[in-house]
Amino acid sequence: MENELQKVFVKNTIVPQDVEEVFEHAMKFQELMMMYNCAIKEVKTKLEVLNDELSIRNKRNPIDFIKSRVKKPMSIADKLERYGFDINLKSILDNLNDVAGIRVVCPFIDDIYDIAHMLSIQDDIKIIQIKDYIKNPKPNGYRSYHMIVEIPVFFSDRKLPMKVEIQIRTIAMDFWASLEHELKYKKNVQESEEIVDELKECAKIINQTDAKMMEIRNRIKEE
Ligand code: GTP
Ligand code: MG
Repeated sequence: MENELQKVFVKNTIVPQDVEEVFEHAMKFQELMMMYNCAIKEVKTKLEVLNDELSIRNKRNPIDFIKSRVKKPMSIADKLERYGFDINLKSILDNLNDVAGIRVVCPFIDDIYDIAHMLSIQDDIKIIQIKDYIKNPKPNGYRSYHMIVEIPVFFSDRKLPMKVEIQIRTIAMDFWASLEHELKYKKNVQESEEIVDELKECAKIINQTDAKMMEIRNRIKEE
């Protein structure tokens, strides 16, 4: 961890003069990551509350599972560099929306929209951005509902608005995205092109299956 932190701060526009300075930067960085982690806890609790309440009312869980992560120091530095932003703490706060990330996996497509809606009407949540890759899938077939929200986190002496990226998707979409993600590390281009096409086809089938599953569930509910 310390080595990785040092690498990040060596990339900084302000090159640390001595060990003490590196240490001070590292402490501040660690504090910022702690703050993002707290923001994740806040949003996660909101999602868990919704899941608990709805599971009693509808006798089933609208959320299957929730995963979360704080972006790794090197990924933060790489992303800032890639977009040409300065590499410092203020730049992280100003320019990155996905340092705190939460993935919510639901059984059905309508669960996604229900959860997203119920979260967005909570008065301490500010919606910064919505990207609906379910209604508008990416050319490669990627589907998910993305929200960037801002949530106030109460610390000992201040309240800070922290950004969190929430990705909401079905089990099938998650299955697809996990495999597609692996393609990014593939070297063999020839084979990759074939895989891209096959993944696209899978995304189509998954979409049809998601819709069909919802329809069957509704028919079972009616009976
Ligand atoms: P980033 O620079 O990656 O953050 O992209 P962006 O700022 O345009 O945000 P976008 O909402 O498009 O994507 C955010 C995140 O969604 C990514 O970091 C991935 O975790 C996920 N994602 C987006 N597109 C894809 C995709 O085509 N395949 C997979 N597997 N995941 C994706
Ligand atoms: Mg991202």
